[in-house]
Amino acid sequence: MLLSSRQLTLGNTSVRMRDPQRVEETLRCMQKAGLNTLQVISDFDMTLTRFARNGKRCPTSHNILEISKMISSECKEKLKDLLDKYYPIEIDSSKTIEEKLPLMVEWWTRAHALIMQQKIRKDQLTLAVQESDAMLREGYQEFFDCLNQHSVPLLIFSAGLGDVLEEVVRQAGVFHPNVKVISNFMDFDETGVMTSFKGELIHIYNKREGALLNTGHFEELRSRPNVLLLGDSLGDLTMADGVQEVEKVLKIGFLNDKVDERLPSYLNSYDIVLLKDETMEVPNAILDFLVAD
Ligand code: TMP
Ligand code: MG
Repeated sequence: MLLSSRQLTLGNTSVRMRDPQRVEETLRCMQKAGLNTLQVISDFDMTLTRFARNGKRCPTSHNILEISKMISSECKEKLKDLLDKYYPIEIDSSKTIEEKLPLMVEWWTRAHALIMQQKIRKDQLTLAVQESDAMLREGYQEFFDCLNQHSVPLLIFSAGLGDVLEEVVRQAGVFHPNVKVISNFMDFDETGVMTSFKGELIHIYNKREGALLNTGHFEELRSRPNVLLLGDSLGDLTMADGVQEVEKVLKIGFLNDKVDERLPSYLNSYDIVLLKDETMEVPNAILDFLVAD
């Protein structure tokens, strides 16, 4: 059995589990229940996309915009200052979520206020993504294609920029009909210039509220009470809170940065923790297992 040891190495991938037996039981239940009872909920930045490649950081959906030609150099500098100030707080394991929350709201609010001033053109987003180093994790094609082939709904639930991430998924050729995105979407005027963001802000720690605002989506999926959840932040753990009559949830966490410091809290909250893994190898192995019945 693939997931039978406390610490399992798949290629260069380090897999950790607090309770491997529970993982195995959950997977067996999910397999027995069948793929027509499954839905997948995944974060985007640094979960579906790579964290780094050859030692160089890969961009988040915000970064794609930040480094593009659409943004003035003054705005680039300000967004970079915000990143330098707030990202260390995001990954600081000595602070609680309650302590970080107001600071993360501050980051998102300030970054989005800057972005809104930039008169971003909808038709320039394609080029911005083409020119970026954005990259879905190795094995993404198999992951997206397998879910589509078996009609398993994939919800991408992101505190990033919806218009940008949709373009990344589209350019990778995997924006299949089973994919739905909940994220921060831009509002454009009739000439295609961005004026504001639509709806409520989604930041790293209010995905629960975001989920509860989208009851329609989860209502449609009422017959799919089993959830595979993929995330890279502790804020991603609440993404399945909108799921109705939930039965089994298996949470897979990518731990990309400050691994030693953050491992205990990740092991406490994610069922499977993947250490500095830039691939979809483990989610794909799990899908293989669930598909085989
Ligand atoms: P996610 O929910 O899709 O992972 O998106 C959240 C990530 O976006 C989080 O890791 C921080 C990152 N981010 C930036 O890179 N730049 C920004 O300006 C903001 C507000 C967030
Ligand atoms: Mg993320």
